[in-house]
Amino acid sequence: MLVIIGKDYDGMSREAANIVADRIRRKPNLVLGLATGSTPLGLYRELIRMYKGGSLSFSKVITFNLDEYIGLPRTHTQSYAHFMQENLFKHVDMDPHYIHIPDGLANDIDAHCEWYENEIQRWGGIDLQIVGIGANGHIAFNEPGSSLGSRTRIKTLSQQTIEDNMRFFKKKDEVPKFAITMGIGTIMEAKEVLLLASSSNKADAIKAAVEGPITAMVPASIIQMHRKAYVILDREAAAKLTQQYEQR
Ligand code: PGA
Repeated sequence: MLVIIGKDYDGMSREAANIVADRIRRKPNLVLGLATGSTPLGLYRELIRMYKGGSLSFSKVITFNLDEYIGLPRTHTQSYAHFMQENLFKHVDMDPHYIHIPDGLANDIDAHCEWYENEIQRWGGIDLQIVGIGANGHIAFNEPGSSLGSRTRIKTLSQQTIEDNMRFFKKKDEVPKFAITMGIGTIMEAKEVLLLASSSNKADAIKAAVEGPITAMVPASIIQMHRKAYVILDREAAAKLTQQYEQR
């Protein structure tokens, strides 16, 4: 696990973007796992800047998003499909045929989850997976207590996650309570994992994930078992770490 501490949010985003861009340049048909949320926005902005500057193309990149809310159509402004469209896809030369996001309106959710797993395999597995971390230590929607070997499935969101998400919805009862999420086992099979965290409200979760014991109560702590993981932080998210790490 390589922990890299950027000077600030923009520095962290640039570090992450340089890794993603390098992998795409080396393998134009990279299978790239994507995350939503506020944390990767700077990374996506940086990738868009590289595309617009002519130094990066997404035309052959295959993407798989980590998760999606159940019950929201893709066009809903809070769906992750909409988020990805607005914050990355529509600004770059992605081929829409290569975009994969779980379908929150699937009739048979179990069958859909199985299809999603098979589809990842059909493309040769995820080369690089971007993940965020919740204040409660979750990765994707794998909340504390999730099996460390779990696969793509339906999950009930924790109360904390529902409260964290409340700011995005007009009314409390509009906030989805269920999601489809890649499992921890699915994420761990990615050849490389890039975990991003910024700001002080993630400092406890980062301390637990990076320097605490590996436990299902802090799902992100499984990253300690990954053979090729990067944890890219800003100074605030790194504030509670006690070991020495690379400062950029
Ligand atoms: P955030 O969410 O990037 O909006 O903080 C990350 C997460 O909950 O995984």
